[in-house]
Amino acid sequence: MKTLNKVNIQGLSPNQPIGVFDSGVGGLTVAKEIKRLLPNEDLIYFGDTKHLPYGEKSKEAIVEYSTKITNFLLEQNCKAIVIACNTATANALKEVLELVASRVPVIDVINPVAEKVAYEIHTNVGVIATKATVNSGLYRKSIRKHNKFIKVDELATPLLVPAIEEGFKNHPITHAIIYNYLSNNKLKNIETLILGCTHYPLLLDEIKQYYGNRVRVIDSPNIVANQLKIILDKYHLLNEQNHTPSYHFYLSDITKNFEKISRKFFGNKISLELKVL
Ligand code: DGL
Repeated sequence: MKTLNKVNIQGLSPNQPIGVFDSGVGGLTVAKEIKRLLPNEDLIYFGDTKHLPYGEKSKEAIVEYSTKITNFLLEQNCKAIVIACNTATANALKEVLELVASRVPVIDVINPVAEKVAYEIHTNVGVIATKATVNSGLYRKSIRKHNKFIKVDELATPLLVPAIEEGFKNHPITHAIIYNYLSNNKLKNIETLILGCTHYPLLLDEIKQYYGNRVRVIDSPNIVANQLKIILDKYHLLNEQNHTPSYHFYLSDITKNFEKISRKFFGNKISLELKVL
């Protein structure tokens, strides 16, 4: 797997935290997997709850939010930046990379997943994602760059993020939305489904229930966390110190649902702090 940017590791040390960001609770699905695979790492998470959903915003707005957050995470002394948001990746990856330059490694949520899927040779892949991600066409481009025989069908599923942010898990409204989207003709012949939004794994059970065993749902958070591990290892930046890791969460608007999910994933001792950039 290729790294997105070449890093000059001078001045970086393994005990610095990892910065992770998303528009809201979605990136927690990635952060949770990072915590599981890399239990010694300290994390700083930024959830831009004030501006969500990113999926409905213009490219300019998404670039502005993403670069401001990246700057903030760099100021917090992060040794790596994980863009735990497909919409930010699809619309602002280039600008984030330009800003970071060679200072720290950047890991996104689309490229590692696209590469893995492409090499596992799935013939018919479906992607569900926000409007801004689907409009960018980045999944199709990234998958077909590695394997041009794969058919990729992308469907925008914009009602899922608001339902998740409202905490409507196991709720008839969410079931109806899922049924409505997944029965769309575009996804009729798929064998594999990519959840192209980091919020969607929070509805994994419901999505799997819809398909039974017919369709394989890709575990994107695991692929991304693994990619992070490979890259930190490559730059000798893995924290091997046995200590109690710290998890710090900054939110541009503190919401009940974020509190609930972050405590469920990370325990009660985490700190949530309001931070408007
Ligand atoms: N979780 C994000 C993603 O992966 C963004 C959702 C949104 O804010 O619209 O696309």
